[in-house]
Amino acid sequence: MADDPVMRPWIGTEEAAAAAAAVSSGWVAQGPRVAEFEKAFAAAIGAGYAVAVSSCTAALHLALVAAEIGSGDEVVVPSLSFIATANAVRYVGAMPVFADVDEATQNLTTATVEPCLTGRTRAVILVDQAGVPAAFDAIQALCAPRGITVVEDAACAIGSVYQGRPVGAGAELAAFSFHPRKLLTTGEGGMLVTPDEEVAARLRRLREHGMDVSGAQRHASRQPVIERYTEVGFNYRMTDVQAAIGLVQLGKLDRLVARRRSLAQRYQTMLAGIPGLRTITDPEYGTTNYQSFWVLLPDGFPVSRNELLRRLAEVGVSARRGIMAAHLEPAYVGHSTRLPVTERLTASSVILPLFHDLTEEEQNLVVSVILSAATGSAKSFMSPVSSR
Ligand SMILES: Cc1ncc(COP(=O)(O)O)c(C=O)c1O
Repeated sequence: MADDPVMRPWIGTEEAAAAAAAVSSGWVAQGPRVAEFEKAFAAAIGAGYAVAVSSCTAALHLALVAAEIGSGDEVVVPSLSFIATANAVRYVGAMPVFADVDEATQNLTTATVEPCLTGRTRAVILVDQAGVPAAFDAIQALCAPRGITVVEDAACAIGSVYQGRPVGAGAELAAFSFHPRKLLTTGEGGMLVTPDEEVAARLRRLREHGMDVSGAQRHASRQPVIERYTEVGFNYRMTDVQAAIGLVQLGKLDRLVARRRSLAQRYQTMLAGIPGLRTITDPEYGTTNYQSFWVLLPDGFPVSRNELLRRLAEVGVSARRGIMAAHLEPAYVGHSTRLPVTERLTASSVILPLFHDLTEEEQNLVVSVILSAATGSAKSFMSPVSSR
C-alpha cells in the first residue's frame, strides 16, 4: 500500500484548468474571480456577505479588528485549537483567556466559558473543532446581553450544519480556512462571512491596506481614481488564481461531505467494539463534515498514544496527535491555567487518515492496527482485516 497521508485534497484537472484560465486572463491578483467566489460562497452558506482573504488566520485577525478589540481587552478562546485562534487575539494586543472544552464535541460550552468572563471580556472565539458545530445559540445567549461579540472560527467547518443551517450562517462574523487540511482548498486562503453590509465593506478595505477604492475598481474605471486610506489596513488579499480553484472546489462540497461522512461512519462501526474508545461524532443539534476524524484512547488502553502513532507509521499510515493545546506551548508561557479536559484530549487522542480518495483497504489497515493495539497484540495488524 502506498503511504497513507492523514489528508489529501480532492483536487485535479478541473482546478488546474480553472487556475490556467485565470493566468491566461492576465488578471492574477484579486479581481473578478475573487468577487465571483465570494458571491458563490455567501450563497452556499446562506450568509449576507463573504469577504475572501489570504488565510483563516488573516480572517480571524480582521474579525477582531472589525469588532474593535484591542489592548486591555480579554478574549475567551479554547486552548484546544490550532494556535492561530489564540494568536489572532495577540495580534490586536488583547489577552487570550483559555477556557476548557466539552469532551464529546471538543468545543467551548456555556459552562466552560462563563467562569472566564470578566468586566474586560470583549469577545469569545467559538471554534467548530474538527468540523463539529459548536453550541452557537447558547454561547450567543450568554454573550449578547453582556455586549460580548462572538466570532465563529469555522476554519474546519465548511459543509457542517448547525440547527439545520450551514455553520457560520448565524454568526456576526465567521472565518473559514482553505488550507489543504480542510475540505475545500485554494492552497492557502480564507473567507469571512457576515450579515452586515457595512462590516463587509470595512473588511474589504482592511484586507487591502485600508483603501477606500479596490484595485479592481480602479482598473475598471475609465476616469482617474484617487484612492484614500481610511485606516491602517493589511495586505490580506486572495488572488484570482486561488479564487478560480476555490470556485471549482466549492462545486464539489456536497460530494466531499457525503464521502467523508460515509468513511467516518465506517470507522465508527469498525472501532465500536473497543471498550471505552470515544470517536468524533455528530452533536445532537447538527452534523459534522468530519474535517478530522479523532479517536480518544480510554484510560488503561494497552499502548500509549505515541506508541500507537509509531505502530501506524510503521505500516505507512500517517496519523497525527490530537488537536494541540495552545496553553501548553512556549509561546503561551505565563497564560497557564488548568484545563483538565483539554489536557486529556490533547494527550490521548489520535487523528486518523480521512480523505476523499481513501480506500476501504487503506481504512482497514488503519483499523487493524488500532484493534491489535486494543487487544494487546503486537503482530496481527500486519495482515489487513477484511471489511465488515
Ligand atoms: C481552528 C482553526 N483556526 C484557524 C486556523 C488557521 O487557518 P489558516 O491556515 O487558513 O490560517 C486553523 C488551521 O488549521 C484552524 O484549524
